[in-house]
Formats: sequence, C-alpha cells, structure tokens
Amino acid sequence: MPTVTELLQPVEVDLEYLLSDLRNLIGAGHPILQAAAEHLFSAGGKRLRPGIVLLISRALSPENELTERHRKLAEITEMIHTASLVHDDVVDEASTRRGVPTVHSRFNHRVAVLAGDFLFAQASWHLANLNNLDVVKLLSKVIMDLAEGEIKQGLYRFDLDQSFSTYIQKSYCKTASLMANSCQAAGVLSNISGSHLKSLYTFGKQLGLAFQVVDDILDFTGNDKQLGKPALSDLASGYLTAPALFALEEHNYLQIIIKREFSQEGDLEQALSLIRDSKAIKRSQELAENFSREASESIDWLPESPAKESLLELPQYVLQRLY
Ligand code: IPE
Ligand code: MG
Ligand code: MG
Repeated sequence: MPTVTELLQPVEVDLEYLLSDLRNLIGAGHPILQAAAEHLFSAGGKRLRPGIVLLISRALSPENELTERHRKLAEITEMIHTASLVHDDVVDEASTRRGVPTVHSRFNHRVAVLAGDFLFAQASWHLANLNNLDVVKLLSKVIMDLAEGEIKQGLYRFDLDQSFSTYIQKSYCKTASLMANSCQAAGVLSNISGSHLKSLYTFGKQLGLAFQVVDDILDFTGNDKQLGKPALSDLASGYLTAPALFALEEHNYLQIIIKREFSQEGDLEQALSLIRDSKAIKRSQELAENFSREASESIDWLPESPAKESLLELPQYVLQRLY
C-alpha cells in the first residue's frame, strides 16, 4: 500500500510551491503571528487537503495542467484547515499537534485565537479575490460548518440522547465539508457542471467522513507519538464518537458511567476497556470502509491520469492509517 507521500507524488512540486507561498503570505503579518504561523507550517501536516484539490485540478485538465486559481484554491483550503486546527486545539485544550506543542501551549491563548482569526481572514480575502461567486459560496459555507461543528460537538458532550446521525452531521461539519466543498470548487474552476460536479462533492464528502471515523477510532487505538497529538482524549472530553456510540448499544453499564461524566474513580478506564472489548471498533472500521468505497466509486468517470490513480487510492490510504 502506498504512503501519503507516494500518493501525492503527482502534485509534490505543487505542494512545495504552495508551502513556500503560504509562508510568505502569512509572514507579511505581525511578528508574533509570523512566529505562530512558522511554528505551525514547519511542523509539517500531511497536506492532504490541498493535495486533493491539486490532484483533482490536474485530473480535470486535459494536459494535466494547473491554473493560478486552482493553486490559490489549494492554499485557501490549507489556510482554512490550519485555522480550524488552531482554534480546535484551544477548545480541546490539546497540548500537541503534528508532533509539536500547539500554538496556545507554545505561545498563549491570545496568540492562538488571533492566529486562527488571522488565517480565516486571509483565507476569506484570497477567496474573494478568486472572483468566482460560486466558489466563494462553497468555501464560506465551509467556515460556517466548521464553527457549527465545533459548537455541536460542545453541546453534545456526554449527551446519551444524541443519535448516530447527529454524530455524522457533526463529522460532516468538522471534517467532510471542507473536503467536499473544496473538491467541488476545483471542479467549478475547471468549468465542470451537472452530475460530474456533484460527484466531486460526493468524493470529498465520503472521503472526509471516512477520515473522521478513522481519526475517531485512532483516538482509542493509537498512541500520542503515532498520532502526533494526545490519544484517548475524545471520550475523556465527553465526545461520543462512533466507537462509543456503537459500544453503548452493547453495554448498559457504559451509559451509567458516561451519564455521571466519569466522576468516580476508575470510570474512564472502565469505559475504555468496555469499548475496546466490544464490537464497536470493528463496526466503526466497517463504517469507514463503506465511506471509503463510496468515495472511490464516485470518481470512476475521471479520464485516466496519474492524478486520477492517486485519487482512487486515497480513500484506501485513509483506512490504512488504522493498520
Ligand atoms: C486532523 O486532520 C483534524 C481532523 C479533521 C480529524 P489531519 O490529520 O489531516 O491534520 P494535518 O493537516 O495532517 O496535521
Ligand atoms: Mg478536537
Ligand atoms: Mg479526534
């Protein structure tokens, strides 16, 4: 199975260029924000989201070429993603991300809030300057969804009445919306319309949902070093993700200890072992596999190219993070 670097190989040079451009853009701000941004971007994320936008853009062009606007769209996508991570880490009080201290723990909360705002603002400005109203609508909706996802997640902490579809909606808002809408926006910039445009949206959406379910499984099965961020933090924060929701169907006792918000000694440890010993992890994997298969199926129609090959394999890569 290929690594993420191998999958992004058709756009590797584009991603190098993107990263240096991002650093320049953000470096033009305040020195403290510059330090925060430098800290963020040098930690090196997977650059999955801009990678996907660039792959789709190349796959849609007959000569596999890229326009300046497609490049900008990829940059905007990474800015929005990074901004959301900085704010998310403040909300979750997470100490590490991408294997290094988070912005608020390296600097302070004020810097993290401002750095996130600054990135969202920059992203909006560059978005407007693409001069394409459809693309503006798609990506500004993403920023709304991200905020709504974060709010929903907070509202449903320790809430045993939430349904599975609430969880899926929240995952759409937090993760899949950005992938879905940026994939569609790449299609808009390439003058794609109708069912093909819709299928680019579906690709990003199903890929994003698979990604989030895998991320939620890894929170139970991974360790800090592997993940580059603290493991076992979702349940402790009261976030009931797919593994917890499935396990709740099997174990009544889990309900009791979640309801009392792990207030008694040993509650959290017991909850974790109940979840690990149930069918929940396996059922979550199957859920992610379904999303992943639907993602690949939706882009069959793309003309053959190395970029398409990578896009077809990306959903499989997302699952492979589990093994
Ligand atoms: C993490 O995304 C946040 C989620 C939406 C689950 P990534 O794991 O893709 O983060 P980076 O960009 O590679 O650091
Ligand atoms: Mg979080
Ligand atoms: Mg998580």
